[in-house]
Amino acid sequence: MEKVPSKEILAKLITVTVLNKTGKKIDEFQMRGGSNLWVFIRKRGLPIGSACSGVGVCGACHLKVTEKNPQSISEKNNFEKETLANNQKSPDERLACLCRVSGDITIQADYW
Ligand code: FES
Repeated sequence: MEKVPSKEILAKLITVTVLNKTGKKIDEFQMRGGSNLWVFIRKRGLPIGSACSGVGVCGACHLKVTEKNPQSISEKNNFEKETLANNQKSPDERLACLCRVSGDITIQADYW
């Protein structure tokens, strides 16, 4: 079961830095702490895969996440690991639709 974010996390504004595949910064936006990363990327208008509508089975929303603090993003669970493996994605990547963000992060995708 997914943990409910604390009031402190919900009150935070998180900065998300977006890099393209070459590492160049292409965007930066803020989102409310505890929010779903995939939802905010879509709201921002960045193209991101969504073949399964964000339920974590297609692997299309895969991206790299770099965080200063390991608690900045929800832990990768077995379901996410299995989806990455089943869709031949790198085990180092994350599925945006399964990530809740609670601290500043940098994201990078090979399709940006
Ligand atoms: S949108 Fe399908 S796994 Fe994230």
